[in-house]
Amino acid sequence: MELSKVKNYDEMSMEAAKIVFEKIVNSNRLVLGLATGSTPEKMYEYLADMLNKNKVDLSHVYTVNLDEYVGLSPEDTQSYNYYMREIFFDKVNIPLENTKLPDGVAEDLDRETEAYDEMIENLGGVDLQILGIGRNAHIAFNEPGTSFDSGTHVVDLTESTIQDNARFFEKIEDVPTKAVSMGLGTIMNAKSILLLASGEGKKQALQDMIHGKVTEEVPASILQRHHDVKVITDVEDIKL
Ligand code: GLP
Repeated sequence: MELSKVKNYDEMSMEAAKIVFEKIVNSNRLVLGLATGSTPEKMYEYLADMLNKNKVDLSHVYTVNLDEYVGLSPEDTQSYNYYMREIFFDKVNIPLENTKLPDGVAEDLDRETEAYDEMIENLGGVDLQILGIGRNAHIAFNEPGTSFDSGTHVVDLTESTIQDNARFFEKIEDVPTKAVSMGLGTIMNAKSILLLASGEGKKQALQDMIHGKVTEEVPASILQRHHDVKVITDVEDIKL
């Protein structure tokens, strides 16, 4: 694991944007795994600016997102699909058909999860996966207890994740209680991983991820077994 300590959210976002930008311009074909949440917002903003200033064509880039809420259609302003278009896809020169997210309103969700893994496999796997981390050390929507071998699956969100995400919704009852999420096995298959964490609220999760026992109770601890993980954080007193 590699650790980059930065002063603040802004520096973290800029460093991450530069890494992704370099990867994009130095590849003939790239599969990017993308994350949502508030953590990567500014990274997408900086990245879009860099790509546009340099007039980078993104027809060689494919994106697969980590997760989507069950029950929210792409038109729903709270869906991750909508978030991604608003914050990134609509701002850059990427063919929309190259951008994939799980379908949270698929009629057959089990079939959707299988199809999502097949789609990733057919793309040749994820080259660079961006990750945030939840306060309970969840990654994507893989809550404590999720099998390390899991593929894309339907998840019952924990109370703590529902509470954390309530800030994006008008009232807590509006927060979906289920999501479709790439599994920990899916994430571990990525060739390289870039995890971003900002703010003291993520300190315990980072400590457990880096120094704790590798256990399914701490989903992010599985990253200790990945050979190419970079963490960028502004959280103080985090060491390798
Ligand atoms: C959600 C997302 C995760 C994200 C996490 C942390 O659960 N599914 O992908 O990493 O929240 O969110 P934030 O970046 O807003 O702290």
